[in-house]
Amino acid sequence: MTKIRKAVIPAAGFGTRFLPVTKAIPKEMLPIVDTPTLQYVVEEAVKSGITDILIILGKNKKCIEDHFDIAVELEQILLRAGKKEYLKQIRDISNMAHIYYVRQKEMNGSGMAVLEAEAFVGNEPFAVLYGDDIIYNPEKPCLKQLMEAYDTTGKIILGCQEVPKEEASKYGIVQPGATKGKYAEVIKLVEKPPIDKLPSTIASIGRYILTPDIFEVLKNTPAMPNGEVCLTDAIQTIADSTGAYAYTFDGRRYDVGDKLGYIQATIEYGLRDKNLSEGLKAYIKSLKI
Ligand code: G1P
Repeated sequence: MTKIRKAVIPAAGFGTRFLPVTKAIPKEMLPIVDTPTLQYVVEEAVKSGITDILIILGKNKKCIEDHFDIAVELEQILLRAGKKEYLKQIRDISNMAHIYYVRQKEMNGSGMAVLEAEAFVGNEPFAVLYGDDIIYNPEKPCLKQLMEAYDTTGKIILGCQEVPKEEASKYGIVQPGATKGKYAEVIKLVEKPPIDKLPSTIASIGRYILTPDIFEVLKNTPAMPNGEVCLTDAIQTIADSTGAYAYTFDGRRYDVGDKLGYIQATIEYGLRDKNLSEGLKAYIKSLKI
């Protein structure tokens, strides 16, 4: 089995759900405590064994490139001030992985975003991570679990979790076939089904292991009425031909593309931070609202 080394992170969207802050700041750079959401996603990939990452950018995303670049002037200032801890922190960011960028010119859907990665990926299986989902699992990162599932099955893998019925219409929902433990064969992947037509409550959560045949499929996938090509439709084609698995991963997942999910992530990461947890806990207990 070819080892998975490459990951693709689509980050071209406008982030309209977070306006006005996203007018000039990419949503991927919004911090959870002191770290941009995108950095958590890159760290998950790196901790899973990924060495090469392609970030799909759009307009107004230049600060993402700056964030993962070397900051010579800042490093000199920190060095002179003897702030070794900060220096290490910012150096580590630029040393994490080989990070490449491509600019998606048109906002024409998740499928077209992934198609931008064709030259980068070549003929290898690869990972796709959506920046709206942050998954906390200090023992085994979510992506690592999915890479192992790919090694076991040799089929494309959808990272999944059960979601409450009332929330299922926000997701790609799996109609499962044969199920064994954490694995379920994907019969259908239905994008945002209405609540009365849910095939299950197993939601696809922004993490995929794909095979390179997805690119030809994407080129032949018709756009939806809104002009966008959806990755979900291409995954369905592959599920119908060579097969796909939904794998229920372990980990606490935050939907940071949603304001409530973002605030929950901020609070829980704050509570995990040894310098903040005591003060934050006391503050939360003192709240009278
Ligand atoms: C995308 C996918 C959907 C998936 C979701 C996970 O939707 O199209 O299948 O369940 O991410 O977060 P979006 O939230 O970008 O509309």
